[in-house]
Amino acid sequence: MLDRILRGRVPRKPHTRHTGANGDLLYEECFTRQGFDGAYTVLYHRYRPHEQSFQGFVEGFPMPTAIAERGLLRRHYKTWELPADAQSPLFARRPLLFNDDVVISVSKPGVDDDRFFVNADADDLYFIQRGAGKLLSPFGTLKFTQGDYVCVPRGVLSRFELAPGDEQYWLSIECLGALEIPRSYLNALGQLKLDAPYCHRDFRVPEFQPADDEELRLVTVKRGNRFHGFECAHSPFDVTGYDGTVYPVAFQIRDFEPRVGQVHLPPTVHTTFQATGATICSFVPRPLDFHTEAVPCPYPHSSVHVDEVLFYVSGSFQSREGVDAGSLSHHPAGIPHGPHPGAYESSVGKRATDELAVMLDCSSALKATQFAALLEDSAYHESFLA
Ligand SMILES: [Fe+2]
Repeated sequence: MLDRILRGRVPRKPHTRHTGANGDLLYEECFTRQGFDGAYTVLYHRYRPHEQSFQGFVEGFPMPTAIAERGLLRRHYKTWELPADAQSPLFARRPLLFNDDVVISVSKPGVDDDRFFVNADADDLYFIQRGAGKLLSPFGTLKFTQGDYVCVPRGVLSRFELAPGDEQYWLSIECLGALEIPRSYLNALGQLKLDAPYCHRDFRVPEFQPADDEELRLVTVKRGNRFHGFECAHSPFDVTGYDGTVYPVAFQIRDFEPRVGQVHLPPTVHTTFQATGATICSFVPRPLDFHTEAVPCPYPHSSVHVDEVLFYVSGSFQSREGVDAGSLSHHPAGIPHGPHPGAYESSVGKRATDELAVMLDCSSALKATQFAALLEDSAYHESFLA
């Protein structure tokens, strides 16, 4: 996502003869974004990576279906009420809100993936509310734990293994355009600036084991909202080396460096990732505004171009009542929103917050799904009346 990394053995120049331990020619795979103009990684395989036979469509995936048109209300979904699932991460996602740019889901998977997944529709961003495990891919093994974001670029073949005994509770955001580090955090050479809210060392990369003999051959590819089954002729983990900037990464939310002003700063100072049509922010524990007359509680606002989604991770959120860890609120564009009655007044003089939350500002209207309707707190909109 950021740094160029080189793992295993690669030839001195791409597209030149490169052989494995037995002298056989290795097969190059140029894994490229935005056609051939974007970020890329060049991988070297023992076998031809395109030897995959089609096994037919795969059914049984919960897809987002918009429920009937509803009033323009502030909404609250109690995602902690979603039952734990005996299914694998691939099948366990329950989409709650979606538009043409993002699909926001919650999942509580119970078993390891029994096949590989390739999301050819989107970059996947997971936030681990609870749980831990490993993401296995040809790039290596990426360990993750509670509070991590896990970014899986579009097209990467991977599967999840869950840590034994851990309850898993994940927020996931399918980014149907591109998920990126905000350009404003990068200098002209693509290095994170010194005033960016994180540094290169905060992004954890996979641990690479060259040419691991993975026995699993089944792959499910999501493309055009359909799931296509394939069987690989050889281990998809036959990679002997790679070199590039596209690979999965993990980032711990508590490594985000918060900004604090003399008076309240807008949520954009918490921007962590930029997706097409969505800004993704991290609210982390921090001192509050230090002007002697500061009102640190977020002011009521009409952010007229975006639908705001807030996923509450932990701590007490200064502006809201009646929400808990795992609450997911949706405040649509078109009506103002702000603190609950009394929260604005009682924030004066507060010096710190322990809130931890993930926020999305989405530039197109979000639709709620059949799964969201089951988790809705119907009293939420009226709870803002004094
Ligand atoms: Fe807001």
